[in-house]
Amino acid sequence: MYKKPVIIFEGIEGSGKTYHSDNLAKYLKKKKIDYIKLREPGGCLNSEKIRKLILNNNSNFHKNTDLLLYMAARNENIVRLKKSYRKKVIIIDRFIDSTIAYQHYGLGVDLSIIQKLNSFILKSFKIDFTFLNIVNKTNMHKRLKLRKNLNRYDKFKSAFYDKVQKGYLKIAKKNARKYQIINSNLNIETNKLLIINKIERLIR
Ligand code: TMP
Repeated sequence: MYKKPVIIFEGIEGSGKTYHSDNLAKYLKKKKIDYIKLREPGGCLNSEKIRKLILNNNSNFHKNTDLLLYMAARNENIVRLKKSYRKKVIIIDRFIDSTIAYQHYGLGVDLSIIQKLNSFILKSFKIDFTFLNIVNKTNMHKRLKLRKNLNRYDKFKSAFYDKVQKGYLKIAKKNARKYQIINSNLNIETNKLLIINKIERLIR
């Protein structure tokens, strides 16, 4: 029997978190290990509806409205994830640290409100490990340029993403044991190995 941890991939735009979470899913599939993978905002059907609303380029919600929408999308996921919790490996592309990094460190929303809402929604749902992907400004812009469609949150100024990334690093530093920083400016194959080696230790 293997363990069924909750694994999170975090990072700013172009940091490679989606690439690595997809790669982990491929690895688990090959090993015939049951997993469930979702992204935030989005994931289940209802959360995907909320995602469209938040990230639509024609939306211009107040930052507090965005916060509540991200939380609403998360609540829909948590309700549905309960069935799989500790029964399957759970991989989530962005989770509670995104809210702290973007809404608090990036946009200045009060931290204690975010923490209260997260506890209200998560209850006993616990994260086991987070891979925090970091990227420099040049590579972030290079990768964003390759995207066909940019959403409302892909269009902030560089200084915003800088604040968000620094925020992420502060969060990781507070609980370093449960985080691994993945420097996506370095070799991607080395990073893939780093992640899979850690996963092997987490599920054993
Ligand atoms: P992505 O799916 O391309 O990563 O885009 C999702 C965007 O939503 C990204 O810019 C980060 C943002 N976001 C928040 O601001 N707060 C949150 O709580 C979450 C989950 C995402």
